[in-house]
Amino acid sequence: MTRHTTSLPPDYFDARYAADPDPWNFSASPYERDKYAATLAALPRPHYAAGLEIGCSIGVLTAALAPLCDTLVALDVAEAALAQARARCRDLPHLRLLNAQVPGDWPDGTFDLILLSEVVYYLDAADVARLAARVRQSLHPGGDVVLVHWTGETHYPLTGDEAADLFIRETRDRLAVDRQVRTEAYRLDVLRDGRSTDSAKMTASSTTNICD
Ligand SMILES: C[S@@+](CC[C@H](N)C(=O)[O-])C[C@H]1O[C@@H](n2cnc3c(N)ncnc32)[C@H](O)[C@@H]1O
Repeated sequence: MTRHTTSLPPDYFDARYAADPDPWNFSASPYERDKYAATLAALPRPHYAAGLEIGCSIGVLTAALAPLCDTLVALDVAEAALAQARARCRDLPHLRLLNAQVPGDWPDGTFDLILLSEVVYYLDAADVARLAARVRQSLHPGGDVVLVHWTGETHYPLTGDEAADLFIRETRDRLAVDRQVRTEAYRLDVLRDGRSTDSAKMTASSTTNICD
């Protein structure tokens, strides 16, 4: 398996969704269901004012996360995935779904939760550094960042461990590792902004413009 050396482009994901509308079987896999439950259970707070989900795909995790947020912005680079997410989440008026490619694109606003589930390893190291800068800039003081990554062998630019470790290194001036869970298949990292624990006072004020 030849490993990609640069961030995977949008047409890689367009081709995957064209071949199979649910290429990772998010909607039916017991593994994904259990991982999603573990992800939500690991969130340090029961509720967030403004959540941001990067790489939301067809919106299965998005739909489960949305009730825990006053507002939620979820973005993905693949329009075919977003179309499914829009249909799945049509009854969630506090959710904004955006077509965006991080780290070049990034939504305006500040967020007290940023979720990066199975997405950082599609980026190369330089883009992970840019992603980390975006997260640092838009995370509300005291906010939480959650990473979840499969730890098997990949042909992506990074493995799950490389992606998570690099992101943690790039954000360590701001974010402390609060909790790490490792199963046979994935790792889950909960990072917390040490600037303040006052994010409960944050009001939902994020907007959905994309800056680049
Ligand atoms: C494996 S899926 C993960 C879906 C979901 N986060 C989950 O854990 O179930 C990865 C998604 O990230 C999206 N993606 C990959 N690179 C991206 C980027 N640079 N910007 C935005 N979305 C990206 C892909 O289109 C794909 O839908």
